[in-house]
Amino acid sequence: MSSVIVQGLSKSFGSTTVLRPTNLAIDEGEFVVIVGPSGCGKSTLLRLIAGLEEPTSGCVLINGRDVTALDPGKRGLSMVFQSYALYPHLSVFDNIAFPLRMAKLPRKEVAAKVAEIAELLELGSLLQRRPKALSGGQRQRVSIGRAIVRDPAVLLLDEPLSNLDAGLRVRMRHEFARLHQRLGATMVYVTHDQIEAMTLANRIVVMSSGCIEQTGAPLDLYRTPTTIRVAEAIGSPAMNLLPVSIASVEEAGTFVTISGKVECRVAVRAPPSAVGGRATLGVRPEHLRADPLGAFCGRVELFERLGPLSFAHLGEAGVEGSLVAQLPSDRHVMLGEVIRFSVDAGDAHLFAEDGVAYTRVNP
Ligand SMILES: Nc1ncnc2c1ncn2[C@@H]1O[C@H](COP(=O)(O)OP(=O)(O)OP(=O)(O)O)[C@@H](O)[C@H]1O
Ligand SMILES: [Mg+2]
Repeated sequence: MSSVIVQGLSKSFGSTTVLRPTNLAIDEGEFVVIVGPSGCGKSTLLRLIAGLEEPTSGCVLINGRDVTALDPGKRGLSMVFQSYALYPHLSVFDNIAFPLRMAKLPRKEVAAKVAEIAELLELGSLLQRRPKALSGGQRQRVSIGRAIVRDPAVLLLDEPLSNLDAGLRVRMRHEFARLHQRLGATMVYVTHDQIEAMTLANRIVVMSSGCIEQTGAPLDLYRTPTTIRVAEAIGSPAMNLLPVSIASVEEAGTFVTISGKVECRVAVRAPPSAVGGRATLGVRPEHLRADPLGAFCGRVELFERLGPLSFAHLGEAGVEGSLVAQLPSDRHVMLGEVIRFSVDAGDAHLFAEDGVAYTRVNP
């Protein structure tokens, strides 16, 4: 087990800065998940920790030791790449066995360990194949196998499940959770998948445009995003974001006007100077409650019944842009139907024009 500390780490390619000076402390045994939009620098941060990129500034400490100048192989970590990075000339067996052979393990042990991993990842029948004769999902599993075969102290995973089918993805997700418990390894995991982020992480790091926006326990980020970018990154379907204007600020909270018409109270404290200005109201789909007197309304354009949950996508009518609302699964919905909703003041979020959330007050 090892801790990972990143201090003032940055990366520029020529005049393009892809990671601005970043600090992050990951505890021994922690499972940290990094999320954020495509191109925000997640892979770059992971590659810098792994030693596959040279930082423009800053340093990386693993278990208290400055490893910034060390080769990747000497940092005591292993990595699963977004692009697999398998050895093309080696069979699946040899790819997985590679780190064990480098560590000079006896042949019998190598064979036993590879067999164990192959069974775990359902690769048993493919061990003699070369990577080019595998599907994307199969290659990804080989790459996971190679990374975990030596029970590394720090495991870096860049979207390790993105090419797997739904069933295997769920099984692998559980397997990563078990692996984390069994190895106690420090894990840093990049994903675009909300369920993976919410269920696997001890802590989520939300990145945006080469910066860390917010870090925290999954539910804290879900409940109290400090910026719009975090609100957008956490939760699926995403939080509804509506342009509003601030009508008044009172003891009970801030009143906003939606589309210049209806008012809605939000349990936040905006400064008096914000009155009359624009803001963005955030409401999660599960917090919109069907209510004939509600401030929000829309016409059902699309209805998704997912079994226990249903989502209505609503357009035009009461608000600019569209709304997504979660409905009870037994509610009958017709396309074209107009539904009104309300939201509790404590469930609504309000972001200033610069995207920063206003401070919450008791609803
Ligand atoms: N070698 C390079 N030269 C120039 N720009 C690069 C290089 N590598 C990455 N970038 C740029 O750095 C930015 C961050 O890339 P990175 O791969 O870290 O994003 P990401 O968050 O992992 O995105 P994704 O979710 O799509 O994988 C991107 O805009 C990318 O185009
Ligand atoms: Mg990436």
